[in-house]
Amino acid sequence: RKDVGRLTTGSTGFDELIGGGIETQSITEVFGEFGSGKSQISHEIAVTVQLPPEKGGLGGECVFIDTENTFRPERIKQIADGFELDVEEVLQKIHIARAFNSSHQILMADKINELIQKGTDIKLVIVDSLTAHFRAEYVGRETLATRQQKLNQHLHTLQTIANTYNVAVFVTNQVQSKPDAFFGSPTKAVGGHILAHAATYRIWLKKGLAGKRIARLVDSPHLPEGEAVFKIVTEGVVD
Ligand code: GTP
Repeated sequence: RKDVGRLTTGSTGFDELIGGGIETQSITEVFGEFGSGKSQISHEIAVTVQLPPEKGGLGGECVFIDTENTFRPERIKQIADGFELDVEEVLQKIHIARAFNSSHQILMADKINELIQKGTDIKLVIVDSLTAHFRAEYVGRETLATRQQKLNQHLHTLQTIANTYNVAVFVTNQVQSKPDAFFGSPTKAVGGHILAHAATYRIWLKKGLAGKRIARLVDSPHLPEGEAVFKIVTEGVVD
């Protein structure tokens, strides 16, 4: 793959774990329990993607597909302040798309092409949460095949955007801590094998002691499994 770009998570350890930062032309998935920091990382990278390359960014804008109304401009302000960036400018470069259900979410992803073709320099697409609507709408075993097919199609759209425009795709996936009879183990979360295979990088987020967070890289074809410890503070994600 040519010209792969990388953007920082804000934590050097986390970046190293995934080979130097979140990659363009790939789908990076973070999964973990509620409150494990998935949305916090989403907010962080919506800002860091705007930094120049020498500061770990891609000097670009992002699309934030918000499915659970978790996007917080106030949080962006704190993170932007930490990087001494102009908050209004930063917010203008985050294109929020609220998705009310899974079909709407799919539609939002389909429309990213148009935004890019209009000349918006999108370098990152965030989907927070990738799976929530699908999980809520397709309940029961008989719907599993349809859910996976729809999710797979959605991920395919995202991968195509990533490849075509040299964009990084970052998706979140909430899972239960304990293996659960229906969804299986955390590493085979909703979406199951389909999601496992579609995402290039899969990172399991766990809560550690004293406010620390642990990121564990799993199922990665190119990189060794390993862990990184990071923190979430007022300024965002740090080592
Ligand atoms: P997901 O459910 O995984 O998406 O979690 P989340 O990212 O929404 O997590 P949550 O909002 O619970 O935040 C995770 C942790 O980040 C919190 O427990 C806090 O330690 C920290 N955090 C979140 N927001 C702030 C903030 O505004 N300031 C500071 N200092 N820390 C924050």
